[in-house]
Amino acid sequence: MSKRFLIAPSILSADFTRLGEQIAEAEAAGAGWIHVDVMDGHFVPNLTMGPFIVEACRRATGLPINVHLMVEQPEKLLEAFAKAGANHLIVHVETCPEIAGTLKLIKRFGCVAGVTLNPSTSVRSLEAALPLADIVLVLTVHPGYSGQEFMDEEVPKVAEIRRMLDRIGSPAWLEVDGGISVQTIGKVRAAGADAFVAASAVFKHPEGIAAGIQALKDTITDHEQ
Ligand code: DX5
Ligand code: ZN
Repeated sequence: MSKRFLIAPSILSADFTRLGEQIAEAEAAGAGWIHVDVMDGHFVPNLTMGPFIVEACRRATGLPINVHLMVEQPEKLLEAFAKAGANHLIVHVETCPEIAGTLKLIKRFGCVAGVTLNPSTSVRSLEAALPLADIVLVLTVHPGYSGQEFMDEEVPKVAEIRRMLDRIGSPAWLEVDGGISVQTIGKVRAAGADAFVAASAVFKHPEGIAAGIQALKDTITDHEQ
């Protein structure tokens, strides 16, 4: 298994009255990417952030901004997010009838192209996307809210996608999102994930953001020594 790994704090659980400060704290604590959860109130029940927030994040950090688009017709929004300063644009396969074309469009806008799928969606739906994807994001909760319980039944899906990526020699990141904590991160790491999104475990950690990131990193490195 590759040794690389990174933590991608999701600002969905940040204190928005102090967003810049909190992102700076996450960066100083060794976050790898900043994850932004975009929800449209249709594809998922919740309504969250648009390009304007990505623009604010861009001013707060030099880290790659990893944008998770939980929206219908994401192709209509790609350019706006790219212009706002997003580095990674991740679309749901359920929202993209022509996924290969959408991933190519993301690259044309100068971004890293990612694909994701809901817990109820089969890995077979990823076949056309995998050769073009730079990031594959596996949801380990039903998307919509932070603070939900990790779905153990998604761990075999992470392992299966790891095998599919290895089979085609893809260097893509295998990112996981939802319910990631010190209790669960080891399971998805062992299944082959190398990028870990965490909202509550970072921004709601009782000892603060830096402690939250460190605890997640330590859990992985302790297991791999
Ligand atoms: C889920 C979002 C996640 C969410 C994770 O709908 O895609 O990125 O913020 O939150 P936690 O880490 O609290 O489960
Ligand atoms: Zn997310």
